[in-house]
Amino acid sequence: MAVERTLAILKPDCVRKNLIGEVTRRIQEAGFKIVAMKLTRLTQDTAGGFYAVHRERPFFGELVDFMSSGACVPIVLEKENAVADYRTLIGATNPAQAAEGTIRRLFADSVGENIVHGSDSTENAKIEIAYFFAESDIVANIA
Ligand code: CMP
Repeated sequence: MAVERTLAILKPDCVRKNLIGEVTRRIQEAGFKIVAMKLTRLTQDTAGGFYAVHRERPFFGELVDFMSSGACVPIVLEKENAVADYRTLIGATNPAQAAEGTIRRLFADSVGENIVHGSDSTENAKIEIAYFFAESDIVANIA
């Protein structure tokens, strides 16, 4: 299996609930390597740009308001099969439908406030990683 990168975001609800450490620990224990990470606060424009693909959806305004409501933590993860494996680790978008033991099932309150984001394909992962990080921000070949 190929080594891939995926973009995770610990969303503002994760930060507000003081779950940065807990969620990051679970990600690392599942075998993902953190190769870039930062704490940032999105503006309405940066949140809207990131989720531009959803701009026609009825929840777009709510999504942009929520994602710009506080700090978040974008993280680049590296692992074999990272995109699919990370989505398995976090569970379905709606925590009520997420499998037992997944990060969203354990910690999320609703489909809108669902603790974490994960890229849905390797193509989108490249685009999403580039939205937050320059290639020079990504630390390769560390233990
Ligand atoms: P995420 O994986 O970050 O990608 C798009 C986000 O849109 C998704 O997580 C949800 O947080 C949000 N979303 C999807 N469906 C709804 C919905 N019905 N109502 C509110 N937010 C939604």
